Amino acid sequence: MITCRGLLWFACVSPAARALTVGSDIMDLSSMRKTYRSDHEAFEESHLVSLNPITQFSAWFEEVLQCPSIAEPNAMCLATATRDGKPSARMVLLKGFGVDGFRFYTNQESRKGKELETNPVASLLFFWEPLNRQVRIEGPVERLSAQESDTYFHTRPKSSQIGAAVSKQSQVIPDREYLRQKNAELEEMYKDKEVPRPPEWWGYIVRPSMIEFWQGQTNRLHDRIVFRQAKEDETSPYTHQGEGGWVYERLAP
Ligand SMILES: Cc1cc2nc3c(=O)[nH]c(=O)nc-3n(C[C@H](O)[C@H](O)[C@H](O)COP(=O)(O)O)c2cc1C
Repeated sequence: MITCRGLLWFACVSPAARALTVGSDIMDLSSMRKTYRSDHEAFEESHLVSLNPITQFSAWFEEVLQCPSIAEPNAMCLATATRDGKPSARMVLLKGFGVDGFRFYTNQESRKGKELETNPVASLLFFWEPLNRQVRIEGPVERLSAQESDTYFHTRPKSSQIGAAVSKQSQVIPDREYLRQKNAELEEMYKDKEVPRPPEWWGYIVRPSMIEFWQGQTNRLHDRIVFRQAKEDETSPYTHQGEGGWVYERLAP
């Protein structure tokens, strides 16, 4: 993170990077670079644990769960766009995945919620830095049923349920005190009662049409294996048959 005074940046970045241009108007980060893996650790097609990308994602996710330095394995960047193509992105938590897609929960009145209503497609991005891995997922988005949204909502800690009820996500509010007061009111109101799921709070599912697995390599010859839904009559010699209606290809890094 870079603050305008450079203080936070100074605290978090390595001395090599710090030595660059602190004090100038532009932070020159051109020499920041990290070592990835060696070529013999390349991610080859033969290393895919499955030709179904959901199973492959599951295998990578398992590895992420074993990596103690990844604090929030299920944190992902969700990108949406307005109907006329103005993009926006933010982090959300993946709350489940399977052959049908990737689930997250949010407020449908939020910026992302409104964008998804008028333009129901999204891109998800995971970056697991200690493993030098990135996964990109794209596809149409649907709202989950009220029943599934209710069920998940009530698995959350009560304080989070109240927090969701307090927050008219993405609306302008007067100050933090407004949130404190509203939180206290709702805590009192629901002291001995179940918190109902706010009507604007829903689960969403991204139904993947593309999943890319990226593995960083030292020599910058990074590996990119992309799965996409097969089209009819594909004949490219570089396109390989996957499983479950998927094909896969290697992209130049
Ligand atoms: C690690 C992390 C996880 C988050 N998880 C969620 C989430 O699951 N759902 C959610 O609505 N917001 C989540 N947020 C907050 C969003 O990033 C964002 O601030 C909020 O959803 C409003 O976004 P919007 O105005 O673009 O709709 C998370 C933020 C971070 C940093």
